Amino acid sequence: MSKHDQREQTHNTVKRKEMSRRQFLSYTLGGATAFMAGGAVLPMIRFAVDPILTKKSEGTYVKVVEESKITTEPQEFKFQIHQVDGWYESDPQLSAWISKDESGEIFALSPVCKHLGCTISWNTQNNNQYFCPCHEARYTKDGKNLAVAPNPLDEYEVDVKDGFVYLGPVKGNTRVE
Ligand code: FES
Repeated sequence: MSKHDQREQTHNTVKRKEMSRRQFLSYTLGGATAFMAGGAVLPMIRFAVDPILTKKSEGTYVKVVEESKITTEPQEFKFQIHQVDGWYESDPQLSAWISKDESGEIFALSPVCKHLGCTISWNTQNNNQYFCPCHEARYTKDGKNLAVAPNPLDEYEVDVKDGFVYLGPVKGNTRVE
C-alpha cells in the first residue's frame, strides 16, 4: 500500500469515527429529550382522562339503621354517602323516611317534595300524611301524591341484611300507581 493510500484510509477511518460520534450524540440527546417530554406529558394525559377511567361507585348501599328500630310509623333517618363527580369528592348528608307496610316489608321514601323540591315531614298535621310546608302538598304513607304535587314521592332501594337496613340509589315510587 502506498503512503498516499494509507493516508486516505486513515482519513476515511477518522471521518467514519466522527460520523458515529455525531450520531451517538444525536441519538442520546434525542432519546433523553423524548424521555423527559414523556415524563412531563404522560402524567398530564393521565390526569386529564382519570375521571373517565375511574369506575363510578353508583349502586352502592349505605348502612342506615338497625332493622329492629323500624315500625309501621314512618321515621326520619339521616345518613351520609360518598360521592365522586369527576375530580370533586363530597360526603353529603341525606335523609329518608323509613317504615314497614302491613305485610312487614320495609320501604324508604325520599323527603324531596315532587312539587318544587322542598322537604316533606310525616304527620305534622295529625292526619297520617306527609306534608310539605312550602305549598301544602300532601302524600299518603306510601308516598302517593294527594294534593299539589304532580307525582308520588321517590323511593330508595332497600336491602335488609344482618339486622340492618341499607339504602341504595333513589328510584321512582313502586308502591303506588
Ligand atoms: S315544594 Fe312542596 S308543595 Fe311546593
